[in-house]
Amino acid sequence: MTFSRQIKIAPSILSADFANFGAEIRALESQGADWVHVDVMDNHFVPNLTFGPAMCKAIRPHIKTVMDVHLMISPVDAFIEAYAEAGADVITAHLEAGAHIHRTLQSIRGTGKKAGLAINPGTGIDAVAHLLDLTDLICVMTVNPGFGGQKFISSQIEKIGALRAMIGDRPIHIEIDGGVTVQTAPLVVAAGADILVAGSAVFAGGSVENPAPYGTNMAALRRAAGPVQA
Ligand code: DX5
Ligand code: ZN
Repeated sequence: MTFSRQIKIAPSILSADFANFGAEIRALESQGADWVHVDVMDNHFVPNLTFGPAMCKAIRPHIKTVMDVHLMISPVDAFIEAYAEAGADVITAHLEAGAHIHRTLQSIRGTGKKAGLAINPGTGIDAVAHLLDLTDLICVMTVNPGFGGQKFISSQIEKIGALRAMIGDRPIHIEIDGGVTVQTAPLVVAAGADILVAGSAVFAGGSVENPAPYGTNMAALRRAAGPVQA
């Protein structure tokens, strides 16, 4: 994975047919997905439950691009190794998931995987400052994590801009997760984001039997996002 701030669309399979992940992933990638975003939820850190490392391992062979695993679980440390073994390329943990996020990021880096740091809408960026050297990606949650299809929280745009300034020349991606649409994509990209996670906006109107809308929706997001900001 060479670092580039070129805009990437990362569809979230939270909006996919859970009985057909393999086919859904193949459809997304054939329609132009850059990364595949995998939402792991534990009904403890967030009020929803999805799946664990066994499912991640099962879907891994279907992913040709990048497997971007977003862990909404707490405690998280004991599971890092399992997601690395499942084949994740990026493992993202939440800053709010425990007292020792620094150690968590060290563990992720220790597995040889890219380390992602997610921050909830209520979390400021001050807490991120001393973690930058351990981080390959910062995921700014633009909804409260737990569910797809929620409304974008616009107060996060200012935060994205401040984070972009804090990152400077460091090779750290800014990923946006939640409520990304053709309306919100240009705002977050102008503020400094380069990876757009999208569930509802990608899957709308499509299916494994009729995947063309996935492609149309991703192309519309890409067009709306425009060129990456320096
Ligand atoms: C929310 C998840 C998101 C979610 C995004 O907790 O982390 O990845 O699926 O869904 P949309 O794009 O529908 O807001
Ligand atoms: Zn996510």
